[in-house]
Amino acid sequence: MSMNVVTLLYLVASVCFIQALKGLSHPTTSIRGNIFGMVGMTIAVLTTAAMIVQLAGSARGLGWVLLGLVVGGGYGAWRAKTVEMTQMPELVAFFHSMIGLAAVFIAIAAVIEPWAFGITPPPVAAAVGINTPVGAYVVDGVLRHGIPTGNRLELFLGAAIGAITFSGSVIAFGKLSGKYKFRLFQGAPVQFKGQHMLNLVLGLLTIGLGLVYMATESWTAFFLMLALAFVMGVLIIIPIGGADMPVVVSMLNSYSGWAAAGIGFSLNNAMLIVAGSLVGSSGAILSYIMCKAMNRSFFNVILGGFGGEAATGGGGAQEQRPVKSGSADDAAFVLGNAETVVIVPGYGLAVARAQHAVKELAQKLTDKGVTVKYAIHPVAGRMPGHMNVLLAEAEVPYDQVFEMEDINGEFGQADVAIILGANDVVNPAAHTKGSPIYGMPILEAYKAKTVIVNKRSMAAGYAGLDNELFYMDKTMMVFGDAKKVVEDMGKAIE
Ligand code: TAP
Repeated sequence: MSMNVVTLLYLVASVCFIQALKGLSHPTTSIRGNIFGMVGMTIAVLTTAAMIVQLAGSARGLGWVLLGLVVGGGYGAWRAKTVEMTQMPELVAFFHSMIGLAAVFIAIAAVIEPWAFGITPPPVAAAVGINTPVGAYVVDGVLRHGIPTGNRLELFLGAAIGAITFSGSVIAFGKLSGKYKFRLFQGAPVQFKGQHMLNLVLGLLTIGLGLVYMATESWTAFFLMLALAFVMGVLIIIPIGGADMPVVVSMLNSYSGWAAAGIGFSLNNAMLIVAGSLVGSSGAILSYIMCKAMNRSFFNVILGGFGGEAATGGGGAQEQRPVKSGSADDAAFVLGNAETVVIVPGYGLAVARAQHAVKELAQKLTDKGVTVKYAIHPVAGRMPGHMNVLLAEAEVPYDQVFEMEDINGEFGQADVAIILGANDVVNPAAHTKGSPIYGMPILEAYKAKTVIVNKRSMAAGYAGLDNELFYMDKTMMVFGDAKKVVEDMGKAIE
């Protein structure tokens, strides 16, 4: 296979990836997007495998590739099949950490044996008294060629970004899963005095060591730089907490792409450069969208300013205040007599897997002449688009599903806002100065004439904050698992 054919096939795969991203931007086209992604990846993998066989002159090197494909692909397929929708962000963080680690390993291998990657000619035994070519040196009678400066820069960047991505993703994994005792892995921000200064100093030291490596090709500088980058990954992520984790997930997504692109330059692999850049730039755009949705400054989130001391990340005990509570039958009565109902789904709905029950409830209300709409907050749940995916799974008609900016104006006229397993995304504390979620746009469910809230207890949401909405006069709490409660409401409406 000539290099022209390889380039052409890589180009086709790149176009498929671009089409995949385009398709994934809307639920109606997402299946097509996924198919494009799969086709693109198949072309890329087969082309690379064929290239390996050709370059090696035999199928010898292919064994390792196949082993990697079987182990990595098998594990990925099994996890994708078995993962709970609510564990998706942890899985994504895990995958990001693997991409980061792969970039680090490739960079280390290329630094130690650059000829194996075609970066330099192979070392040869040096004849006594030869003229050493420019950029080459003789060590123990072996003539080695130095890594060109451009490649050193790529290796330094790929390794540093990969290391930050790896350790940062490991911390994010712990924070998102929320089940580790070790404080660094918990949702609450870990902040200390002089943190920003420490990050700045470490950042400058990392760059400085990278420059030393570029100037001297010193392995010591390279490995010290790598160690600092690992530490920086931890330090960048630990101060982020509360409701700001969505930004971290998409930011690490972006980092993993740039790490892959950096390594693509070192390996001279156009596919890796294109795919890495696509992931890097789409992740960066997603981070920006997330920041906009949360009304956060990207740099403030990255520098760990937000999250707030009050955040516990796991929903700690709240002060005891009286609330009005009712049964599923009471709620059904209110819903059945409404003209307009807005349903606000949240993380708890996903936990309870109540999406099908909600769709049935909505259908029954619609049959009675009630207008039903769904309100989606961009960071509801635990991953971007979580609620859209959930509702699409239950085949909720797209024309009933509204994004926050489109529905917020309608809460004032709605008879009932029914909040199912959501908390932070409807918390009016976002309007209170000094609150850790101050400034975050919320679904303005508190403006509806009546508010029904279903959750299991008075426990806090992800940001660990009490929610004033639950104590309002017009609010009725219906305690219980979302699936059971929604099913009971459906039965009562019948
Ligand atoms: P949360 O604020 O996390 O609240 C979910 C609520 O669901 C909890 O208060 C919980 O209360 C209730 N719940 C849990 N299981 C339930 C069940 N089986 N039945 C009924 N209720 C149940 O969720 P949200 O409003 O969707 O907000 C999302 C939060 O996650 C935001 O802070 C966001 O920043 C953060 N986050 C989002 C993402 C992305 S990308 N979407 C990623 C990471 C973090 P009980 O325990 O009392 O039932």
